[in-house]
Amino acid sequence: MPSENRHPFLKGLSKHRGAPPTVVVIFGASGDLTARKLVPAIYNLALDNLLPSDFFLIGFGRKPIPDDEFRQMAEDSLKEFSRRDVDEQIWGKLKSNTCYVDGPYGESDGYKKLKEQIEAYEKAVGRDLQVLFYISTPPSVFGDVVSHLGDCGLAARNLGSPLASKVVVEKPFGKDLESARELNATINQHFGESQIYRIDHYLGKETVQDLLVQRFANSIFEPLWNRNFVECVQITVAEDLGVGTRGGYYDTSGALRDMIQNHTMQLLSLTAMEPPVSLDPESIRDEKVKLLKAIQPLELGSKNTDVVRARYGEGLVGGNKVPPYLDEAGIPTESSTETYASLRLSINNWRWEGVPFYLRSGKRMARRVSEIAIQFKTPPGILFSSSNVFDLSSNTMVIQIQPDEGVSLVMNSKIPGLETRTQPVRMNFRYKTTYGSNTPEAYERLILDAMIGDSTLFIRGDETEASWKIITPILEFWKTCGNQGMAEYQSGSWGPLESDQLLWENNHKWRKPGP
Ligand code: BG6
Repeated sequence: MPSENRHPFLKGLSKHRGAPPTVVVIFGASGDLTARKLVPAIYNLALDNLLPSDFFLIGFGRKPIPDDEFRQMAEDSLKEFSRRDVDEQIWGKLKSNTCYVDGPYGESDGYKKLKEQIEAYEKAVGRDLQVLFYISTPPSVFGDVVSHLGDCGLAARNLGSPLASKVVVEKPFGKDLESARELNATINQHFGESQIYRIDHYLGKETVQDLLVQRFANSIFEPLWNRNFVECVQITVAEDLGVGTRGGYYDTSGALRDMIQNHTMQLLSLTAMEPPVSLDPESIRDEKVKLLKAIQPLELGSKNTDVVRARYGEGLVGGNKVPPYLDEAGIPTESSTETYASLRLSINNWRWEGVPFYLRSGKRMARRVSEIAIQFKTPPGILFSSSNVFDLSSNTMVIQIQPDEGVSLVMNSKIPGLETRTQPVRMNFRYKTTYGSNTPEAYERLILDAMIGDSTLFIRGDETEASWKIITPILEFWKTCGNQGMAEYQSGSWGPLESDQLLWENNHKWRKPGP
């Protein structure tokens, strides 16, 4: 099949992208992600007639759960989380092809039962099935699951054919460079790289995919996309939620691992990478890795002026008083985990030398918004420059990832009237206005792509290591500091003062996110 026919950027969620007959096995089937995202995504694919006619879903978990109960759990999750209502007929078919297998992750019994169940489905339809293993367990058992799949022969099924087994690995992919390398090595013992799909759900978001279209399908932006015209780039991934019920996990992670190492670095690579030679998965991933490798190592220790970490204090979010991080459930009083991190990165390549890239992500910020802002250089101030009379702003292209997805361009304009007065205005493109609001969820795209065997929107092994290589020295530095240097920000604000100072050195300031 020519690569263009398989490619999500070219074909979208079209029926031409047929997946082979498949069994999806979800490890961690009674978990939150399964209920909130995975089952609704699979159901919505069924609703769009994008699942193969022979499709089966097996939940796998430690806890024994009767099939009927698991089906009911799946139905309840659809009612609560599906973006579209439950159609009895479509769900009825999917439900009858759904079952549950239990077993401890570290022992072979459950995997034997799983194998028998897969073979029973194959017998029932009279053909071989592709198996897609989706590992959504706590990271501590990723290795166990993969090794057992290898040992009982499930990893090597149908190798060399389109029905070869595939494994989708959820984040977090390791907790630092060393553990990511170990995890890659364990998975590689049993699965080839072409069978592995490391997920970062940000890559499944429509706007993130649109980034490449904006950059490379328009001729007006690319000539400006470099050090000659760009003053700085700001990437913000802000959430208004706190850690909620995930305190136990979150406190072992923190903003740098939870958001920056993966989602924010992905946004950075797609924004700054060179044009790929083609749209096939390896060409795009090669460029992303090249970009990550060009990021200058940070100077940390006492000379650190490039990274800031902070923790939320109490404050008001959406008009409600919220507690400080240290008072959240499951957070130890001596915690030294950051809920906010910001970085100033330099990219040592021909295109970006001298252009600061600012990244920030935090919980309990003023509102939920993710955006990439390309701030262009100011023109010579000979004719117009900022003053009482001329209110001017830098030209800025803002790609708003979520919510209210869109692209806007800030430019300066004359206010109508007999005097010459100016003000910044925005040209706005909103997805909702142009395309309506019912776009597929990231997990729909990603599960379908994995079933089809398109790895463009998944992270390659060397890519995850390249990203950890940038992040790990920061983690090690912070570890030596304990709580020293941990800033605090009010819940409901845009982050700590220290993060503003990170930009002052270059005479820059954080944008207030929004169109
Ligand atoms: C997850 C993080 O990867 O992304 C969460 O673990 C975070 O802490 C979530 O809340 C944000 O995803 P989204 O799609 O809501 O921006």
